[in-house]
Amino acid sequence: MKTIHPLFFPFFVLLVIGCASPKAKDSIIPEPQSMIPQKGSFRFNKQTRLYVNFQGERQQFLTHYLEAAIQPLTESLEPLENNGINLLLTTNRSDFPVGESYQLEITSARISITAADEAGLFYGIQSLLQVIDSTTPDTPSAQAVLINDAPRFPYRGIHLDVSRHFFDTAFVKKQLDAMARYKLNRFHWHLTDGAGWRLEIKKYPLLTEIAAWRPYKSWKEWWNGDRSYGAKEDSIAHGGFYTQEEVKEMVTYAQERSITVIPEIEMPGHSEEVLAVYPQLSCAGQPYINSDFCIGNEETFTFLENVLTEVMELFPSEYIHIGGDEAAKTGWETCPKCRARMKQEGLTDVDELQSYMIHRIEKFLNSHGRHLLGWDEILEGGLAPHATVMSWRGEAGGIAAVKSGHKAIMTPGEFCYFDAYQDAPANQPEAIGGYLPLKKVYEYNPIPNGLNPEEEKLILGVQGNVWTEYMPSPEHTEYMIYPRLLALAEGAWSAPENKSWPAFRNKALEEIKTLQAKGYHPFDLKNEEGDRPSSLTQGTHLALDKKVVYHQPFAEQYPAAGELTLTDGWMGGWSYQDHRWQGFSKNPLEVTIDLGGLTPIHEISATFMQNIGPWVWIPKEVTIQVSADEDNFRELIRIQSEVPQDVKGPFYTNFGWKGTTEARFIRYTAHPIDKAGAWIFTDEIVVK
Ligand code: ACM
Repeated sequence: MKTIHPLFFPFFVLLVIGCASPKAKDSIIPEPQSMIPQKGSFRFNKQTRLYVNFQGERQQFLTHYLEAAIQPLTESLEPLENNGINLLLTTNRSDFPVGESYQLEITSARISITAADEAGLFYGIQSLLQVIDSTTPDTPSAQAVLINDAPRFPYRGIHLDVSRHFFDTAFVKKQLDAMARYKLNRFHWHLTDGAGWRLEIKKYPLLTEIAAWRPYKSWKEWWNGDRSYGAKEDSIAHGGFYTQEEVKEMVTYAQERSITVIPEIEMPGHSEEVLAVYPQLSCAGQPYINSDFCIGNEETFTFLENVLTEVMELFPSEYIHIGGDEAAKTGWETCPKCRARMKQEGLTDVDELQSYMIHRIEKFLNSHGRHLLGWDEILEGGLAPHATVMSWRGEAGGIAAVKSGHKAIMTPGEFCYFDAYQDAPANQPEAIGGYLPLKKVYEYNPIPNGLNPEEEKLILGVQGNVWTEYMPSPEHTEYMIYPRLLALAEGAWSAPENKSWPAFRNKALEEIKTLQAKGYHPFDLKNEEGDRPSSLTQGTHLALDKKVVYHQPFAEQYPAAGELTLTDGWMGGWSYQDHRWQGFSKNPLEVTIDLGGLTPIHEISATFMQNIGPWVWIPKEVTIQVSADEDNFRELIRIQSEVPQDVKGPFYTNFGWKGTTEARFIRYTAHPIDKAGAWIFTDEIVVK
């Protein structure tokens, strides 16, 4: 924020103003481009009027919106010099070269909001509403200020998974309201997934008669149960769906608030619920076997095109999100229809088979004037010519997309997945894993290093994702969304040079009170504990900076600091994704540390993590050996883990030896449990 303070503001004036009114609110989330405080303040009274320089539905909507938020306002047919608000849509684009930008001027006489598009005008209103002092609702006031503001990115999104748990339209509207307040403009509605289909499709009634319901209240019970579906009429049915009328209502509600709703219809994977009720679309031809559509079957394309036709009638968005993530692809290998398709199309592997499908669906969407958006797996086997990539497995997918001239939206799990813990896991409601505190969301820059200016322009923006496996209630879901949504919004809207973590944290602390007063259920930032205490400062011990030889490799995906990791003095935080934890999955951890000379030793230990959601377990066995000459090793201890494998975590267990010995070489070995794909993670081998 470029804040210019009045040069001369005598102390007694401050005193008088201070006594006359409570302190005016003077901060906005997201931080505006330029915000220059002026002297005085505007005070609303019963005579305050409103002038809007255009007519019609939009004028009526904005009038009602302002009246609902502030107070009744008498309409004026002339621009107002005194005691009024002017909403001015200008045709002069040169003053507002960036879409959605606005100017808000508050003086003691009047308030004027000027913009070259309706979204800009709406965002000027949002800034006004944030600076209106709501502590005196009978006589609201706003500190005089001149704001010139424009967004950094055109795409500023929030995603909501309504499959794992269903949320009603009142909940959706409430989140749209908050998105509008923080100038977020894309609502990515994850409407279909294995845990339930949520959108009425007239041509395929079983999707909502059966596939939208399950005999388990929570996703967790369903996932750990038989993962079945059931009829709505069953006494134990849980779930729900949106009727087409409700969807239209949501789309309009969002549009009025300058938000585009982007529907997501998952394909070819994450489709168990469809294949349970229309099993002829799966490779097995029977329910409850496959999670992917059969791509060899023409009926699959008929179904998907029919569904997408109804979807396009409901959602006017440029983008239709077709998922594309995490297809198992296993059924395709042996399915005669898929094999025939591969042969006929000259496809060499199942990645190309998926790509064939995405290309076909893209053609269909393009022929209806729409664009395809998909998770970054749509790159595999060859990206469809006009597709936009939503990069979630890190930034690599987004980078690859823009380097090949495609557009991308950044939503990497490490920074943008609001299903991770936001504070010390032991004191938080169960989450899927990971650790994403507010500060980390705030500090995310969606433009990766190493892009040229043309490539940078292809990064449309950023999105926060709300996967709801572990969010069984509306309150819990809001707890996971807020205040992280605010941090994402500031990253999406504000120029990097205007961002400041300490300033934002203060604003967020205040805004949390406002959210609570409005009936939201945010995480209470003021009680935040923060990251794992031992990770906050570098530790020291006898093996610090000593050479480590790996007899078995660490995993490429989780190298942490490579060969320096285990003796760099840095402990990991709550999450194995924080680049401090080193991962091993296909082989054990087996390393030798050279202390450089014979050394008296009293303790050797390492900490491991268990977090079974993402397949991370405490090792089943650890051995610690020492040697004076690197040839003859002596076992100090062999530890069989007694940690139960079904305790979800995250939790942290230390495996070590204590005693008295002397050695130069230390060999530490840790074996993963006997489960294909199981991970172990450790951060440091501490020697004392
Ligand atoms: C995803 O999180 N599977 C996109």
